[in-house]
Amino acid sequence: MYIPEEKVSEILNTSDIVDVISESVILKKSGRNFFGLCPFHSEKTPSFSVNASKQIFHCFGCSAGGNVLSYVMKYHGITFPEAAKMMARKYNVTIETKEIDPVKRRQIHLKEDLFRLNKTIMEVYFDGLKKQDIGKTPMQYLKKRGITDDTIEQFRLGFSPNNWDTIVKVLKDRKISKNIAIQSGLILERKQNNGYYDRFRNRIMFPIFDVNMQVAGFGGRVMDDSMPKYMNSPDTPVYNKSRILYGLHAAKQYCRQEGCVYIVEGYFDFLSLYQNGIKNTVASLGTALTSDHVRILKGYAKRMVLVFDSDTAGINAAKRSIKIFMNEGVDTRILVLPQGHDPDSYVLKQGQKAFNELALNAKTMMQFLLHISIDTHGLSVEGRIRVLEDMKKQLILIQDSALRSLYVKELAETLNIDEKAVLEKVREQYLSHPGKKSFLHDGENKDAKLESDRREEQMISLMLNYPEIINEIKNKEVLEYFYSEKLKRLAQKILSLDPKKEAFITNAMAGMENAEDQELIASFAMNDFFSEQDIHQTALSIIHRIIRVRKKQENTLTTKIISAEKGSDSDLMDLLKKKQAEIQQLHDHL
Ligand code: GTP
Ligand code: MN
Repeated sequence: MYIPEEKVSEILNTSDIVDVISESVILKKSGRNFFGLCPFHSEKTPSFSVNASKQIFHCFGCSAGGNVLSYVMKYHGITFPEAAKMMARKYNVTIETKEIDPVKRRQIHLKEDLFRLNKTIMEVYFDGLKKQDIGKTPMQYLKKRGITDDTIEQFRLGFSPNNWDTIVKVLKDRKISKNIAIQSGLILERKQNNGYYDRFRNRIMFPIFDVNMQVAGFGGRVMDDSMPKYMNSPDTPVYNKSRILYGLHAAKQYCRQEGCVYIVEGYFDFLSLYQNGIKNTVASLGTALTSDHVRILKGYAKRMVLVFDSDTAGINAAKRSIKIFMNEGVDTRILVLPQGHDPDSYVLKQGQKAFNELALNAKTMMQFLLHISIDTHGLSVEGRIRVLEDMKKQLILIQDSALRSLYVKELAETLNIDEKAVLEKVREQYLSHPGKKSFLHDGENKDAKLESDRREEQMISLMLNYPEIINEIKNKEVLEYFYSEKLKRLAQKILSLDPKKEAFITNAMAGMENAEDQELIASFAMNDFFSEQDIHQTALSIIHRIIRVRKKQENTLTTKIISAEKGSDSDLMDLLKKKQAEIQQLHDHL
């Protein structure tokens, strides 16, 4: 559904962020802001702030931030149009839906129909399990596997009878269109075109809910050793394997509370952990984890723990997933279970406490990879060199330089190799794969970067809170002197807005395309330490510092390069040029 921009503004102007957030967070006024415990990460002292006049929120702890719509999206795990609709309903803003084009409307209707059908069939399977006759065997199976009545109830587990036409008949009785039924994947067309048959027969049924509690699809397990063990719905307009995580609808609040999520593979792994009190868990259902999965989970937890079996398949699956988590920059741990166990069997046998203790010792990705590499190559002289070769490829992928140097240190210690030698290898690797990431081990440049970022961030805070200085910034072309490309881009967007407009921050926020930019804007807008009287003076001095520092640094480097060229000291010259490039790169990418 498409929501016109005027409607979004109307919603933003009539809604009240304090009012909305108060429904989910206890807020206390302190100074100009309200404070409460952040719903997006786990904390004991409030660092989550809401500002009524700016209509923004910002968490000083986890940097979540944005306007009322970003809050509602993040909190409920819903899309922008859904959030806008929710707020529109609350504040009596009417949204015309007539204008959306017919193709889109048909898609929306199709999705609604599919969800409705899935829900109907979920109840049919659920009832099947409760029947005295046919439900007896599957019920015994579930009991044997330790599943309680409460779990069956909560996750609506069911049974698909051992017939070819149970669902076909239900669909006929309820006059559900063939087209919808086929698209749902619940029935299949017979070859030679003589009718239809049920996909799921004689299986324990697991409805798969999406994050909004709608039934997106199903999984079914046989009760003996026959193959295939599991069968899932095909991808449909409402079920996308690369985005759905089993159990997230129930686990999300616990993931937020704990700031951490366990990722397991199977239905029973999820159900056993959840039932045993480890509720911050989701299951990937045996499919490879995708970056979409990780991005979705990021909305609920900062730390992710991949729980794997210790067999080769488990280890390989862990290795494959690591890259995705690394690319998303998530704090990821890997928990390899003792030989012969999967999460389900482990928690059934050893209980919640033992699992939690094991989880405390989950390895970081680097520790895990190092472990595997050592297992493969051993610790002989040649072995250690191979391990170093393996690890340098991983190390250059780590974006955080402090973290990287910790790992370099750890690696050097484990292999009993001089830290400098390890660092040299990593540098080598970096230089042969310069790519986009900057590798600098240079404290000086990092500090300079932090300082320039701070100045540039202050500039943006001033622009947001005191748009009257924007003309000055335009005249002096200050943005040209920004080091950070990211901040420059944000500032440019702000400059393109009309500074005379009311609710400047609200407009700036609405103009940002992605959640990350919104978070930045919220954090900069919150930062209004300037006192009203000398605002112009403060602005001028920051403007001048930004310009002066950049000019000076460029002069020094240029002078050095020129004199190196004169003295034909080509090594020094290369070094200086590299340094100049690195400084720029550091500012662009970190
Ligand atoms: P249980 O034997 O019931 O404990 O299953 P498990 O979850 O321990 O099984 P396994 O580790 O073999 O598989 C993990 C997950 O992969 C399952 O929960 C399924 O989602 C999926 N899976 C396993 N086998 C199959 C299969 O044959 N077909 C499909 N489509 N998925 C499967
Ligand atoms: Mn299992």
